[in-house]
Amino acid sequence: MGPGGVGKTTVAAALGLAAAQRGRRVIVVTIDPSKRLAQALGLDPAAGHESGSIVPVHGPGGVRLDCLMLDTQRVFDEIVRVYSRDADAAARMLGNPIYRATAQHLGGALEYAATARVHMLHAEGRYDLIVLDTPPTANALDFLEAPARIQELVGNPAARFLAGTGRIGLKLIGLGGGVLLKTFEAMGGGSFIAELGVFLKEFGSVLGEFRRRAGDLAELLASSETGAVLTTAATDFSAREAEAFIDVIVERGMRVDGIVLNRVLPTLAPLPPPPVLRPAVAAQVGEDAADAAVQALGSAYLGARMQSERAHRIWLHLRDRYPTVPVALLARRDPPPSELEELVVMGAQLLEQSA
Ligand SMILES: Nc1ncnc2c1ncn2[C@@H]1O[C@H](COP(=O)(O)OP(=O)(O)OP(=O)(O)O)[C@@H](O)[C@H]1O
Ligand SMILES: [Mg+2]
Repeated sequence: MGPGGVGKTTVAAALGLAAAQRGRRVIVVTIDPSKRLAQALGLDPAAGHESGSIVPVHGPGGVRLDCLMLDTQRVFDEIVRVYSRDADAAARMLGNPIYRATAQHLGGALEYAATARVHMLHAEGRYDLIVLDTPPTANALDFLEAPARIQELVGNPAARFLAGTGRIGLKLIGLGGGVLLKTFEAMGGGSFIAELGVFLKEFGSVLGEFRRRAGDLAELLASSETGAVLTTAATDFSAREAEAFIDVIVERGMRVDGIVLNRVLPTLAPLPPPPVLRPAVAAQVGEDAADAAVQALGSAYLGARMQSERAHRIWLHLRDRYPTVPVALLARRDPPPSELEELVVMGAQLLEQSA
């Protein structure tokens, strides 16, 4: 977990690989990985991999794990197939134009699908470890409460009533406006409202049945089998956000298994003194440009040192604040990781620091 762009998917993949190397049966469920990461994991759609399917990944030294790119629509389709009253009801829902156009755009649908997918994988019992990458939510509550929220939206009679009152109501039930309007235009008003009513009623009862038989999604997250790993950038702002995440997670009864300070610059040895540095620089850039180059080098160096010192200070602060939680530093790589081998190295570095 963690805010946008801090390295959640990278860390999820690295941790999954590290556990697989220790002989555990692992699956990593990723959410919208960057192209580079998808390629590193062999999930590249250009290679013919459908999102939503489980893809075996083979790493160096015979390491093996499964990966899957979350496909919200496919997760909902699966829930509809399994938890509808009967095959006819399932077929009707799967063919319902409103369901097709909007289910995956309900506010919180992504979080719902992610948690539900993990739930299904857990029930199958094929894995020792399921690593769930999380979507870039602004705060932990958005993620944790999304499943309950979506259940309430489609199950709440008031929302269904409002849905009958037109556009304002539709906004209130959290459906993306643009998508809905397009469907509305394509279907014509009258049948749209009728189909919407059917969709909300039936979809609500399918999700209700899923919850009744599979248990509350939040329960698995709060069980002793689940732990959260927070990823943060090594800036004060990002670290504060991470702390806010942790507070919410802990309040909800979840365990925090680790914090990763990502993209940390290494501690730099001091620059050589000017009498040593200047001749070396002059040999590279010429006598005329040497003074300016030495100065530029000095300030770049200072900036890098300040960043790495800040990371160290944040690391100390987090260790102090959460004495029982391992806080790991992950070095910034340049260029960013694009090979499986690099993710394996990063995973090993993370595990080493959690020992
Ligand atoms: N330690 C690192 N060194 C260099 N680049 C990194 C490192 N960690 C992550 N990156 C790069 O930073 C970018 C963002 O990382 P990643 O996709 O893992 O973040 P995210 O938190 O999952 O993002 P989003 O919130 O969009 O899901 C990627 O291009 C990734 O390759
Ligand atoms: Mg990501």
